[in-house]
Amino acid sequence: MSYALPDARLSGTFAIGGDLTVSRLGYGAMRITGSGVWGEPADRDEALRTLRRLGDLGVNFIDTADSYGPETSEKLIREALHPYANDLIIATKAGLTRSGPNIWTPNGRPDYLIRQAHRSRELLGVERIDLWQLHRIDPAVPRDEQFAAVKELLDEGVIRHAGLSEVSVADIEAARKIFPVSTVQNLYNLVERRHEAVLDYCTAHSIGFIPWYPLAAGDLAKPGGVLDRLTAKYGATPSQIALAWVLKRSPVMLPIPGTGKVRHLDENVAAARIHLSDEDFAALDQAARAQ
Ligand SMILES: NC(=O)c1ccc[n+]([C@@H]2O[C@H](COP(=O)([O-])OP(=O)(O)OC[C@H]3O[C@@H](n4cnc5c(N)ncnc54)[C@H](OP(=O)(O)O)[C@@H]3O)[C@@H](O)[C@H]2O)c1
Repeated sequence: MSYALPDARLSGTFAIGGDLTVSRLGYGAMRITGSGVWGEPADRDEALRTLRRLGDLGVNFIDTADSYGPETSEKLIREALHPYANDLIIATKAGLTRSGPNIWTPNGRPDYLIRQAHRSRELLGVERIDLWQLHRIDPAVPRDEQFAAVKELLDEGVIRHAGLSEVSVADIEAARKIFPVSTVQNLYNLVERRHEAVLDYCTAHSIGFIPWYPLAAGDLAKPGGVLDRLTAKYGATPSQIALAWVLKRSPVMLPIPGTGKVRHLDENVAAARIHLSDEDFAALDQAARAQ
């Protein structure tokens, strides 16, 4: 019996910044670290296997950050995948510092952001970072100074495209006066919808929207929730329905489910084949809002 591999290409494509084409269903590399996104993963070999599996499944968009580990995620990506496939797009970020498990502290000083982008370039082993995102706007530093640092990185060719994370529409508009915003990465999933206005803005302006936490850290993968009603109909797991829902929500949506396990990666990528009907999409929307 032949077994067709899950294929991220079935999710369709999006051109980041108008010229870097990726399969919309990508991969988040935060979970290839230790507990609390700190240090080495519990099963390093499985993390490397997970990364090496991505290409087999048509996943060519990886999201990471300098702060995942810190540095662990970027180093593992290089160890597993360098020299990189031509079509692989690696996005990283800076702007959050780490002093221990689950502790994240913003630092948006321009010199720090620029130094970290250079460090990511070195750790990933690339000449230019495909997509670099300001992880957080640091409230202690004028946002335009942080945006000016991003522009400098673009102008000097350290990074090819730039994005923002956890921002409002007003932040995006302020940033777009200084540099072209190619992506926005905000918390978003079926049951966490506080950023609808940002998503609509991104859709209208062809800015890639990268919903982090698309599975609510696994909660949406568990049976017993709003997704159950559709699992039998689509022959899918709850996490696959959750991913199919965000993919249908907007053509600029680029979900990056995170996992350190091949089994979960396969399951998540297989969501790319699921196309929800308009009725089921709307019913899930309503049920999730009512929750
Ligand atoms: N910009 C930001 O501020 C920000 C913040 C957080 C995350 N992110 C990015 O967004 C990505 C995704 O977010 P996330 O990792 O927090 O949340 P997520 O993708 O919603 O969930 C990941 C969690 O769910 C589990 N999981 C994954 N697939 C599963 C499956 N099929 N069945 C059961 N459990 C499953 C994973 O555990 P296993 O490893 O055991 O599979 C992991 O603990 C991150 O990797 C990171 O790149 C960005």
